[in-house]
Amino acid sequence: MTSPTTSRGQVRHLARQLPSGPVSGTVLKALTALPFADLPFAWLERHPALHGVILSAFGLRRPIFIDHPVRPEPRFGYGKPDHPRIAALLEGGRERYADRLSGFVSLASDLDAIPVRDRPGGTTPYWDNGWLPPLDALALYGFLTRENPRRYVEIGSGNSTKFARRAIRDHGLRTHITSIDPAPRAHVDALCDVSIRLPLERVHPKVLGDLEPGDVVFLDGSHRVLMGSDVTVFFFEILPLLRPGVLVQLHDIMLPSDYPPEWRWRHYSEQYLLAAFLLADPARFEVEMPNAFVHGDERLRGLVAPLWDRLGVVEPYRPASFWMRIREPLPAEPSQERT
Ligand SMILES: C[S@@+](CC[C@H](N)C(=O)[O-])C[C@H]1O[C@@H](n2cnc3c(N)ncnc32)[C@H](O)[C@@H]1O
Repeated sequence: MTSPTTSRGQVRHLARQLPSGPVSGTVLKALTALPFADLPFAWLERHPALHGVILSAFGLRRPIFIDHPVRPEPRFGYGKPDHPRIAALLEGGRERYADRLSGFVSLASDLDAIPVRDRPGGTTPYWDNGWLPPLDALALYGFLTRENPRRYVEIGSGNSTKFARRAIRDHGLRTHITSIDPAPRAHVDALCDVSIRLPLERVHPKVLGDLEPGDVVFLDGSHRVLMGSDVTVFFFEILPLLRPGVLVQLHDIMLPSDYPPEWRWRHYSEQYLLAAFLLADPARFEVEMPNAFVHGDERLRGLVAPLWDRLGVVEPYRPASFWMRIREPLPAEPSQERT
């Protein structure tokens, strides 16, 4: 899922996890509920030291001290050229993305029934949820409907789970939902067939070991490559085991651009590892739908615009789902005979 435009949503989510007794948790919950809180929270996110100190005081952040400080600045996009090789790689799938988008738009009569707004605490999906931007929600609903997978495994749950369950219900899909998340963004246990309330790194890989072609795995967790983090475990221990035909969705991926400047203090790093995999072995992955690329392309964006008009949906957040399918490995090159 995408992160909200300000840290307010994140703080509110974290505050919900604090025990209700302590004064600090209650005060924080009250602060995040104030209608005029967006501006101060946005300001705070641009001042990382103060932001960190305040969140640490509430037990919601842990500082990392590094010996060689880096000033995070986007190197691609946002006024600079995109990464040239990633851009060329994504450009090559343009007709495929157009085909997928047209298929999703043809689901309009089912999508009509999904409200623009609803209760965050409920189980009804809604477009303006602040975490899963509309194009990402559409792609999730659309890919599940198109593939009718046996299994959908979600690492990082909340609004995405609501959209997945809605697609299953609307289309009578056979799909079985497994959610892996220690503290989902919404109350979704009732929507899941299996709920594992642990971080991915503490879950046995066999939970994802039997995925078949067409099955879907969605990673929307910490977004950080660190020793033992969910992203590191996913790329090094899970991705290499996935069979050809399995669909992988990663969230908060802005390729072919860098992360946006306003996210610089989040220190996300997941898409750098994804880019390295794509550049090192492009034949291994078929990019099915890179939503940040789609959103940045006038023609592709235009294919969904009539749907958003029909549904009364505006796209205030940056779409960030990246869908790719594992391909068959290429046959090994015959070894050169020695003379
Ligand atoms: C951006 S939110 C996910 C949003 C969700 N997909 C949605 O659409 O609302 C990130 C989620 O990842 C979960 N998370 C963080 N670290 C994790 C880990 N190591 N393993 C699994 N989930 C993790 C958080 O609890 C949080 O619910």
